[in-house]
Amino acid sequence: MKRILQIIFCILSVSAAYGSIVNAAAAETESLKSPDGRLQADFILDDGVPYYTLTRDGSPVIGKSRFGMKLSDSGLYDWFEIFNVETSCFDETWKPVWGEEAEIRNHYNEMAITLRQTSSDRRMVLRFRLFDDGLGFRYEFPDHGNLIYFVITDELTEFAMTGDHTAWWIPGDYDTQEYDYTESRLSEIRGLLGGAISDNLSQTIFSETGVQTALQLKTDDGLYINLHEAALVNYPAMHLELDDSKMVFKAHLTPDPNGDLAYMQTPCVTPWRTIIVSDDARDILASRITLNLNEPCKIDDTSWIHPYKYVGVWWEMITGKSSWSYTNDLRSVHIDTDDLSKVQPNGTHGATTDNVKKYIDFAAEHGFDGVLVEGWNVGWEDWFGNMKEYVFDFVTPYPDFDVDGIQKYAAEKGVKMIMHHETSGSPRNYERHLDTAYTFMKEHGYDAVKSGYVGNIIPKGNNHYNQWMVNHYLYAVEKAADYRIMVNAHEAVRPTGLCRTWPNLISNESARGTEYQGTNGSKTFHVTVLPFTRLIGGPMDYTPGIFEMDISKVNPNNHTHANFTLANQLGIYVVMSSPLQMAADLPENYEKFMDAFQFIKDVALDWEKSIYLEAEPGEYVTVARKAKGTGQWFVGNVTGKKPYTSRIRFDFLDPGKEYVATIYSDTPQTDYRTNPQSYSIRQVRCTSESTLIQDTAEAGGYAISFREAGPQDRKLKRLK
Ligand code: NOJ
Ligand code: CA
Repeated sequence: MKRILQIIFCILSVSAAYGSIVNAAAAETESLKSPDGRLQADFILDDGVPYYTLTRDGSPVIGKSRFGMKLSDSGLYDWFEIFNVETSCFDETWKPVWGEEAEIRNHYNEMAITLRQTSSDRRMVLRFRLFDDGLGFRYEFPDHGNLIYFVITDELTEFAMTGDHTAWWIPGDYDTQEYDYTESRLSEIRGLLGGAISDNLSQTIFSETGVQTALQLKTDDGLYINLHEAALVNYPAMHLELDDSKMVFKAHLTPDPNGDLAYMQTPCVTPWRTIIVSDDARDILASRITLNLNEPCKIDDTSWIHPYKYVGVWWEMITGKSSWSYTNDLRSVHIDTDDLSKVQPNGTHGATTDNVKKYIDFAAEHGFDGVLVEGWNVGWEDWFGNMKEYVFDFVTPYPDFDVDGIQKYAAEKGVKMIMHHETSGSPRNYERHLDTAYTFMKEHGYDAVKSGYVGNIIPKGNNHYNQWMVNHYLYAVEKAADYRIMVNAHEAVRPTGLCRTWPNLISNESARGTEYQGTNGSKTFHVTVLPFTRLIGGPMDYTPGIFEMDISKVNPNNHTHANFTLANQLGIYVVMSSPLQMAADLPENYEKFMDAFQFIKDVALDWEKSIYLEAEPGEYVTVARKAKGTGQWFVGNVTGKKPYTSRIRFDFLDPGKEYVATIYSDTPQTDYRTNPQSYSIRQVRCTSESTLIQDTAEAGGYAISFREAGPQDRKLKRLK
């Protein structure tokens, strides 16, 4: 009975949500409302050309924006008539394998407009899904006799801005997302980006007004708009190109070596184009549109997928203290791998059995799940030296890395080893070796791999985000699922929520990670922007937890200064949710600050519930999360370009209970440049009625762990 009522309600609400208008100028409009009625998407067919608009409470969010595709032999952008319109609604709650919440509601009204091109009798469907917090739409090409194989040479989709909004953007680039963000007006992009191009800062930035998604925007009226895509499968990644004379973004797809964009065969669909919108920045972070627009999980048994807190032989290579490669003698690298004894070691190789054991000991002592080791396998000299296609075979260790001995040692200590596959940007070589590489992993007790795609893609002319590479990344993840292997791909295409379908994709890099803080530094607001941009598509292997900001203390030849405070590093573990989190610094740096390190040991990685408490891109993000299983609460804050006073109520805690909050924070003396290691740890008693007022520094933050109070805590101060 309840279900019947639900269905009746659903039909009523959609018929109320949908209407058709034919106006005087012969434009036809089909309208769809969000379940709460506040958002409205209009489809407009104007003289045979399809457009859409999006309004919120009657005010425009996206102005009249075009749909269409150019094909190699024709076009699908005009001469259309509406052939059919179907509406429906959907409301279900599903359980992700891991993530920010134990349950996610997927609730939207849908409208599918089938268009017929009168000149060709071809069909194209535009499917809209309108949620309370935004819109997703995609193109569908049904299996209709007049369109079978086709090549897309341009996607004409537009996103018309209603003004000169503020944007947090990185340059459109076919090969990397590892940029610092710029906050500017849309009208300033050309000057800033054009300048960077003329200064030859990058060879691969493709235009003076091209930017990447997820793009975060804010209007002068305080509306937050986020543009991205969901379910990027068998299609190139979308950048956005701004026509700054009109403030209209147009889709700019990543080309293949021929300049073609996408090879299609009906029936087929494009990824969803997403527009998340709210007048409260917290809603952008809490939106689940990207996940909801992806297909349900395709892995039947997910019991082998688990969160991973790990340390690794990694930061020492990033900072230049040790090397990935075993030798500096490039003449000896074309080695017969049976005869490695002839190679002269360089004495700085990081992945030695002894060094790895040190990390395993540290992981075991502090309750970490895993140890990542980079530079364990033959090929690094060749890669740096020659950049050729056949660099790594992913199964041949250097002579000082004892695979079997390490496997045994780690197993005895209850620690898992995490595999590293640097593909050297050579996906063909990787695909050739994938079965043997994954088999080798399983034989040696590895159930997770960090893969990487540094350098220009080989074969030449390809790039990181074209259709062929997008397919490669997913192929590696799907194949990994067959082997029950979890994947954390670096330099791969930015995520678009595919972890819902393939939850063995436990993280990605695909943005500027902590590695830059060991070589160039990053802007102080970086981690307050990432949640609004990179993380919209899925978790990031950001590799936080650096406690020594003076990098010359790790490697005397490296004079980089890392731009953040120690408390900021702790806050990241809560703010930037990921089932895979690294404690990236060296064990000896943690040993100096064991009281602060305790937070990294304690913090959970998988959540029952998440509540965004404060958020403003570039300035601050504060979130409370309740751990799955234990029910323990944690709070994290990261602060950006200027100091901040955070005011939060603990009303997420169970009413009537008393808790102890352990607060790890910046101090009045903390300064990310001169005094980044100044932090305080204090304990207070608190309840769901307590309010915390906490000052933070630029590039600072704080972290809190909660536990229920006991009689021994009576002497602690009580927070009002
Ligand atoms: C770049 C990755 O982001 C980094 O984490 C890794 O250490 C290097 N590539 C080497 O594979
Ligand atoms: Ca990287």
